[in-house]
Amino acid sequence: MSNYHIKNLEEYFQIYRKSVRDPEGFWEEIAEEHFLWRKRWDRVLSWDFTKPEVKWFEGAQLNITENCIDRHLAIRGNKTAILFEPNDPNEVAQHITYKQLHTQVNKMANVLKGQGIQKGDRVCIYLPMIPELAYAVLACARIGAVHSVVFAGFSSVALATRINDCNAAVVLTADGSFRGNKSIDLKGIVDKALEDCPQVKSVLVAERVGNNIQMVEGRDHFMAPLVQAASAECQVEVMNAEDPLFILYTSGSTGKPKGMVHSCAGYMIYAAYTFKNIFQYQENDVYWCTADIGWITGHSYIVYGPLANGATTVMFEGVPSYPDFGRFWQIVEKHKVNQFYTAPTAIRALAKEKIDFVDQYDLSSLKVLGTVGEPINEEAWHWYNDHIGKKESPIVDTWWQTETGGIMISPIPYSTPTKPTFATLPFIGIQPALMDENGQELQANQVDGRLCIKFPWPSMARTIWGDHDRYRDTYFSAYPKMYFTGDGASRDAVGYYRITGRVDDVIIVSGHNLGTAPIEDAINEHQGVAESAIVGFPHDIKGNALFGYVILKDDALNRDSDSLRTEINSLIADKIGPIAKLDNIAFVPGLPKTRSGKIMRRILRKIAQKDVSNLGDTSTLLNPDVVDQIRKIIGV
Ligand code: PRX
Repeated sequence: MSNYHIKNLEEYFQIYRKSVRDPEGFWEEIAEEHFLWRKRWDRVLSWDFTKPEVKWFEGAQLNITENCIDRHLAIRGNKTAILFEPNDPNEVAQHITYKQLHTQVNKMANVLKGQGIQKGDRVCIYLPMIPELAYAVLACARIGAVHSVVFAGFSSVALATRINDCNAAVVLTADGSFRGNKSIDLKGIVDKALEDCPQVKSVLVAERVGNNIQMVEGRDHFMAPLVQAASAECQVEVMNAEDPLFILYTSGSTGKPKGMVHSCAGYMIYAAYTFKNIFQYQENDVYWCTADIGWITGHSYIVYGPLANGATTVMFEGVPSYPDFGRFWQIVEKHKVNQFYTAPTAIRALAKEKIDFVDQYDLSSLKVLGTVGEPINEEAWHWYNDHIGKKESPIVDTWWQTETGGIMISPIPYSTPTKPTFATLPFIGIQPALMDENGQELQANQVDGRLCIKFPWPSMARTIWGDHDRYRDTYFSAYPKMYFTGDGASRDAVGYYRITGRVDDVIIVSGHNLGTAPIEDAINEHQGVAESAIVGFPHDIKGNALFGYVILKDDALNRDSDSLRTEINSLIADKIGPIAKLDNIAFVPGLPKTRSGKIMRRILRKIAQKDVSNLGDTSTLLNPDVVDQIRKIIGV
């Protein structure tokens, strides 16, 4: 039995038990047998969740790109590493081999060096889903620069906040991005962001859409001529196991975004090992994850996990609805995709369309289907199972987070019996715990609680960039000596986990985490707004949508409500991005508050859901009358 490849349920249980009984021995064996090291570690693990401090493979040296690219050259040099499928189905797909990837990454690495980038410097990548994005990520890793990819749907203000938080010296972007039949002016967004980022000395621009853009003399450079002139040889920077590999920002329930820091060795091992098993990847399979590399799913399961296994990974530039709602399935047929990994929101959107968009394509290549990012509802699960998997491809409902670096709870396909809406069992090495309201661990099955993890795993984030105290306070203070996920979960009679959703003020809209506080801050900047509160409510396609309760200042009370709504939403789009726009905005005279002044979001959530059957005792509120006033305005 190889511990690296789990082939049945019995092996899963055996390996799981071993990983819990002897975590160090277990991960040491995986590290030893399956990865390339420049120097061996002195110690497998040291940890203390009170500080918190976690170190895996201390003393070891490596470079992740040697593991993801160089070591494959001898045996898989001509194999497709990245299969780029453009936005326009009539544009030819690009099969980028491991050899070509090696050349392109080396060239890009040399271009970055030419801009003065050195080990430890931060590089902000704000690129669409084009090959240059993957090259840029890997080029940073090759020279030890810390990449911070910002999803190219974020606004200029959000981008500037992220550039400044990690003090990035260089920004990589494009002249624009294609999304269906639209193109977005990415360079314009970068130009605006950089008005607030004086430290950025150079911007490298990939040409993709042919937009007419402004190039700032001395600061901006087109990427292509620099890449062409650069050498195709670039020695790797030898990294310590715990050196930072990347920063990726995720929304917090309060304050500015949190720059989660992932380290080199542990992240690599866990991303690779989970990829191999959770997708049961076999040599010559074609694997496709539809996420954007701007999110953790893309980091771990488009780039690092697949490439560390020598896989062929599809990178799709476009959207599921262009040129029509059959696009995903057309791509599955065209490239004979074997593993397909997407978000419940995409499944729900496609399930609403005519089934002919699915049935006209041959999906028989599919072997494993995956979902990630939010709970999958039963109806969507069955549609995915019946129409895409034809009841033959197991669905892996994978639960994890930006902070966890890799998949934490998931079935192993063809081993773990699946159960709709359940992420099922912890992955190897993961020790979950459900906690009750009094902070006690619930030992039994058939319980509901708050999901924590008791023991370190290799790919956990090590800190929040520049704010270790916030890292401790957010994740390690609610329950002593535990990592608190912020999610609620239940465990059924056989020990399967079901994630029920966030228990903090983060709302997941179309699979994107959004903190309520930053959205409220954006709204409150409107000169007519006195105060606001955001809650989520169930939405057929997005999972959750946002409902805003807004108190206007006196002088705005007579203004036209629709134009106020438009102004508020465009303010949100400017400050955060279009993904955070509100579906509903109600203008209310007040917000229900406790006597200590805290907004009672529970009541606002119920009203937004139009479920007022159980509002609880409102008489203890500071302002009980306001609840009736709000109900009247909304008509519930
Ligand atoms: O609430 C959980 C939800 O997404 C959150 C993490 O979001 P993010 O850091 O953006 O990473 C998303 C991709 C890994 C979690 O705290 N979530 C993620 N996967 C699932 C899920 N909720 C239910 N079921 C899942 N499979």
